[in-house]
Amino acid sequence: MDVFESIRTRHSIGKVKADALPRDLIEKLLDAGNQAPNHYKVRPWRFVVLTGNGRNKLGDMMAASQRDRQPDLPPEAFDKTRALPLRAPVVIAVGVDKPVEAKVLELENYSAVSAACQNILLAAHALGLGAIWRTGEWARDSKVKEFLGFAPDQHIVGFIYVGHPEATGEYPPRPSFEDRMVWIE
Ligand SMILES: Cc1cc2nc3c(=O)[nH]c(=O)nc-3n(C[C@H](O)[C@H](O)[C@H](O)COP(=O)(O)O)c2cc1C
Repeated sequence: MDVFESIRTRHSIGKVKADALPRDLIEKLLDAGNQAPNHYKVRPWRFVVLTGNGRNKLGDMMAASQRDRQPDLPPEAFDKTRALPLRAPVVIAVGVDKPVEAKVLELENYSAVSAACQNILLAAHALGLGAIWRTGEWARDSKVKEFLGFAPDQHIVGFIYVGHPEATGEYPPRPSFEDRMVWIE
């Protein structure tokens, strides 16, 4: 699949099969992420790959954090939260490094990591996998960040859920770019 086809035909796929993915396939995705442009070549992305029981550990942490914040929720709510990372066999948490040099801007690091996430989505699609970029409150949760090895002030750009797609859906064409374009000559 060439890059234009991958860009045009990629769609978020949240429903994937439980089958595990081989490590070399996951590493192909990380390699795609690692090819993203980044200012000053700081490679500001951090990939934390969660598979197997690692996803349960993440789910436990999410439920524990929710319990701290909302202790009165019914137990089913915590069970639901605990199961969230099990929606795909692979979850890649993608974090951003804080700049250590004055010339490096955090906003640019964040942009570079977003590009890395898109590379991963496109690579997953080209490999016949289904993927979705998720954030939600968990991307800003201090307990989750600590569990993943991120500092409290480090951003999580997303959790990329990946697996073999369930039946592929019908997707309406996306709106064209014209209403988002100004051409200056
Ligand atoms: C920064 C970011 C965060 C997102 N967070 C979520 C999310 O938490 N849950 C979700 O279902 N989709 C999430 N998405 C996926 C979008 O819903 C999806 O990209 C959008 O609906 C367009 O569909 P497409 O990816 O198929 O083009 C996120 C996408 C981005 C770029």
